[in-house]
Amino acid sequence: MDGLFISFEGIDGAGKSTHIDGLAQAFRAQGRVVTLSREPGGTPLAEKLRVMVLNDEMDAMTEALLVFAARRDHLQRLIEPALARGEVVLCDRFTDATFAYQGGGRGFDLKTLSILEQWVQTVRGAGPDLIRQPDLTVWFDLPAEIAAQRLAGARTPDKFEAQPVEFFRRVSQGYLERMMAFPGRFARIKADNTRDAVWQDVLNTVQGRGWLA
Ligand code: TMP
Repeated sequence: MDGLFISFEGIDGAGKSTHIDGLAQAFRAQGRVVTLSREPGGTPLAEKLRVMVLNDEMDAMTEALLVFAARRDHLQRLIEPALARGEVVLCDRFTDATFAYQGGGRGFDLKTLSILEQWVQTVRGAGPDLIRQPDLTVWFDLPAEIAAQRLAGARTPDKFEAQPVEFFRRVSQGYLERMMAFPGRFARIKADNTRDAVWQDVLNTVQGRGWLA
């Protein structure tokens, strides 16, 4: 069976986690092996870089370089081997988050991010080189104001969760621009619905592509 790579995106508070777990169960129920992962993170080295990115103050370029370094390790050690074994890789955030957060949120140069994306995600094999991208990106689109209400009073915020609502508006705009650049890969889910309605949309999206019965 061919490997399948699905990423999940959205601003902090968009409510991705339960649906990622739900999809993992649905795939396993149909006999697929599922690898669950997240970014930044997913390998011991990338998890160390995650702690720095989420807690230490740094400029946008340093942040971008660290998330791409984490991504390189994650791709090489976890994602590519799992896909080669024919597994389903469900990843909580991937490169679109860098374009949305460092690009949109922090205003870092998108062309530089595209160059890093090509460097880090190039897969060299027998045939022509390929730039690894998810087969599907599920974008949980939630208005920044609602996300801010959801996050208020929750656990102690990390560096990003503590950003003002305008930051998350720019992040959402960053996601929108990525969706417009890659319309075939993106599925935009309205995340300010009930949990059940959001789940139905997620399931319909994956079933619509023929990956789940
Ligand atoms: P989360 O795993 O709790 O969603 O936290 C990850 C945080 O890191 C989230 O606020 C988004 C941010 N982030 C970036 O800024 N750039 C990236 O490339 C990635 C993957 C995440």
